Amino acid sequence: MGKVMIAPSVLGCDQGNLAEEAFALQMAGADMIHLDVMDGVFVPVLTVGAGIAASISRRVDIPVDAHLMVQKPSHLIEAFADAGCSYITVHAEVTSHLDRLLAQIRTAGSMAGVAVNPSTSVDFLRWVAPAVDLVLIMTVNPGYGGQEHLEHIHDKITEARRILDCYGGSGALISVDGGVNDANAEKLVSRGADILVSGSFITGSDDPAAAMEKLR
Ligand code: DX5
Ligand code: ZN
Repeated sequence: MGKVMIAPSVLGCDQGNLAEEAFALQMAGADMIHLDVMDGVFVPVLTVGAGIAASISRRVDIPVDAHLMVQKPSHLIEAFADAGCSYITVHAEVTSHLDRLLAQIRTAGSMAGVAVNPSTSVDFLRWVAPAVDLVLIMTVNPGYGGQEHLEHIHDKITEARRILDCYGGSGALISVDGGVNDANAEKLVSRGADILVSGSFITGSDDPAAAMEKLR
């Protein structure tokens, strides 16, 4: 098992100051920045676009993962790739052409991520494993920070790792997103999480550096 990476979500940060907020998180020890992009359609809330992603990725040296909670990601992929996002993660639920969408991300020059809602099975990974660089397993229903972590989803991490390893996706990373805190981090890593995304536990704390250290 490699060292776990900590990816703070900037969803709960000052939205008018995201590049500086992301830089402060990098200085506090973050390994990656998780940018929640919401379109007000796939999820009720509206957040930021590729312009903000560009200003964040210019300000930090660590990778940025754009988590696209949007109904039509194909329209946005090139813009987020040009914005410098290392990973672009699309939801499996929004497309009947996931293989095509993942290829579009790599062609645009980013690494291809796929996110799954709590009710979505990961069986499909068998058929796209070589096309995937990251699987984002949601342990809350997307849309809001600060929700309760769904512990029964942990089996899905084990399952995703097994499928990826069997079918040509052994290089893909598994990331877990939603209600991640110091009470569940160790279990998530023991199940096979490579990246822990965490919003409120880190950015809602008085000491984000200490919160990230606790997660490790
Ligand atoms: C949920 C987002 C998450 C969320 C994480 O829609 O995808 O990234 O902001 O925040 P916490 O850790 O507070 O659940
Ligand atoms: Zn997210």
